[in-house]
Amino acid sequence: MVISLSTLLFPLFFVASFPLISSQKYESDSTIKTMEEFSGYPFHQEPGFKDSSSALSVDIESLQRQIDELASFSDTPAPSVTRVLYSNKDVLARRYIKNLMGIAGLSVKEDAVGNIFGRWEGSVPELAAISTGSHIDAIPYSGKYDGVVGVLGAIEAINVLKRSGFKPKRSLEVIMFTSEEPTRFGISCLGSRLLAGSEELAKHLETTVDNQNVSFSHASRFAGYAHEDISTVFLNKGHYHAFIELHIEQGPILEEEGTSIGVVTAIAAPASIKVDFEGNGGHAGAVLMPMRNDAGLAAAELSLAVEKHVLESGSVDTVGTVGILELHPGAINSIPSKSHIEIDTRDIDEKRRNKVIEKIHQSALTISRNRGVKLSEFKIINQDPPALSEDSIIKATETACKELNLSYKKMISRAYHDSLFMARISPMGMIFIPCYKGYSHKPEEFAAPVDIANGVRLLALTLAKLSLT
Ligand code: GLV
Ligand code: MN
Ligand code: MN
Repeated sequence: MVISLSTLLFPLFFVASFPLISSQKYESDSTIKTMEEFSGYPFHQEPGFKDSSSALSVDIESLQRQIDELASFSDTPAPSVTRVLYSNKDVLARRYIKNLMGIAGLSVKEDAVGNIFGRWEGSVPELAAISTGSHIDAIPYSGKYDGVVGVLGAIEAINVLKRSGFKPKRSLEVIMFTSEEPTRFGISCLGSRLLAGSEELAKHLETTVDNQNVSFSHASRFAGYAHEDISTVFLNKGHYHAFIELHIEQGPILEEEGTSIGVVTAIAAPASIKVDFEGNGGHAGAVLMPMRNDAGLAAAELSLAVEKHVLESGSVDTVGTVGILELHPGAINSIPSKSHIEIDTRDIDEKRRNKVIEKIHQSALTISRNRGVKLSEFKIINQDPPALSEDSIIKATETACKELNLSYKKMISRAYHDSLFMARISPMGMIFIPCYKGYSHKPEEFAAPVDIANGVRLLALTLAKLSLT
């Protein structure tokens, strides 16, 4: 489905000021020099152009206002943000993003699961585009910067380039990915996994339901999607020449060190597991302790085993979390007859993470035997490999940092991102900016305007460089 908002909203003066150059004209056009020079300062002067030091000026006031406005599309009170896939608030937030893309003069498209694409056509549109973007869904009671900075910041990066007079050679595309967070259907990076061509996920979604028993297909129809076959979402390798994502660090390193930018070299390998135990339940007073097979205690014991196995790895890079623990029937005077836990475990070393998963499985079997409860489910939902950033993108980002006088360090991402899956079909890179105390996935999440502006300026310059390659 194509929404040609751009035709309605693309301001005429942009058309007048920045005519597109045909590929043939490009070869001989003197503006080619202008474009090449853009990636190294100063670039050419034209009437009305600002000087090079202020050429990449970010409208941080508008950007901050947009971040605040987007945060108001939430199902929980401020300062927390809760925006779950295909909910009313998600639909409103999507409309907000499409509108901003239109105002930025991008042509807007959505695919069958609601990945949203805003394209600025380059002077050689047949070349593979450079893409950037992130997500705007927010886990329950989280903050307003995770993902959002990489979507609103990407739109602003396009505005920055347009204001500067830059003309891209390769098209530039902003992507808002559907459901990076696993909140509703238990699947992380749903949109980017599908873009990367996951047949397995496309099949799985035919039968997937949320915890209210609403099917994926019903939910996506509610939001106006899924009119087509989900495999229409898949993109071929090479569809993009590069993908780069701007994101808050979600860790404390940059802030502690006073470094402006993190240039991500790799993304850790995430996995998630769902476990169900079943016992007999019964009366909390009447059933004597030796007679019990308490499914709740089995879940509690397995949760502690997760911590033990993670710590046994001996590396600080191995982490494990039980973020969901549900007991049935959930009454103080009833022995839990069923329990459900969801385990998230990650590492930068895939083999070491897999070893932890195997140990967790062994513990689940042992606990079930010892406690006389049934292990009714032990399901690995995803077990993803890590991803490496592409050298050429790392280098382009480093060069841009130097040109903008931004301090930076290379670092790994312990959080996962849509970049993890975009790396399957495109050379990938990521830019991190500092966030307060490294807080994320909680309402206290905060990134300072100056850091956001630095990230957007850097993204703009890196996109410009990449678009000229
Ligand atoms: C992303 O939200 C993650 O959990 O790493
Ligand atoms: Mn997140
Ligand atoms: Mn995120």
